[in-house]
Amino acid sequence: MSKNCKNAPRVCKNALICALGAQFEGVSVHVFDEIDSTNTEAKRMVTDGFFGDALLVAHTQTAGRGRMGRSFYSPLATGAYFSILHTLTTPLYDAVAITSAASVAVMRAIKALAGVQAQIKWVNDLYYNDKKICGILTEAVSSGESTHVIVGIGINLNTADFPEELAEIAGSLGAQVDVAELIAQIYREIALYLQNPTGREWLDDYRAHSCVLGKRVAWVSKGTSREGFAESIDADGALLIRAENGELIRLHTGEISLKPI
Ligand code: BTN
Repeated sequence: MSKNCKNAPRVCKNALICALGAQFEGVSVHVFDEIDSTNTEAKRMVTDGFFGDALLVAHTQTAGRGRMGRSFYSPLATGAYFSILHTLTTPLYDAVAITSAASVAVMRAIKALAGVQAQIKWVNDLYYNDKKICGILTEAVSSGESTHVIVGIGINLNTADFPEELAEIAGSLGAQVDVAELIAQIYREIALYLQNPTGREWLDDYRAHSCVLGKRVAWVSKGTSREGFAESIDADGALLIRAENGELIRLHTGEISLKPI
């Protein structure tokens, strides 16, 4: 790996392949200087007949996508924007768990390589210093008899200026990391999870580093705002909330906000 590749926010394809290691030499690796969205490109690959495993990395995205139809701000060479594409060999019954496992993989890699302990805001956003530094968008696509899963991850590494509407919520890791190694480490852990999707090796860390458990939370259910106390996370990664009327509510997916106690 050249010195320039190692710490530059841009990722060298060879450095990435090298960092993935021999176990993953069958992975189709793509690095784009600019693309609309790595998730969208992964979908195009499926449409074009791709089967197997791929890793798509972009230095900038012109139409980066987030959850709930939002966009994901992806300025040039200040973040890690990538998608993991995997053709499923087991039924897709647990998409929430894939995303939760992915958030733990990102959290562990950031801790190992940058020494930063991020917190997970259920379902899958990563926060550091009370600002969102990472979002994950998991999508499933069918082609013929096959189902493919796309896990798209955006990590703000050293984005300095966010658009006004994001300035209050978005932040950056702010640490020097070897981006190829960061992406490879996350890839390896998610690949291991996908080999054994009923495994729950991620669950203890998911709970231990949740910034939601023990807090008052609000969410919208069928158009109505509700509030409650986040009690626990079950074995499927669902959030168990004690509502104000005493009812225990199990949220599989969606979005919550933290409320002052
Ligand atoms: C969110 O915060 O709502 C999820 C953001 C996911 C962003 C990543 S960046 C790489 C991949 N490509 C996309 O268009 N989105 C994901």
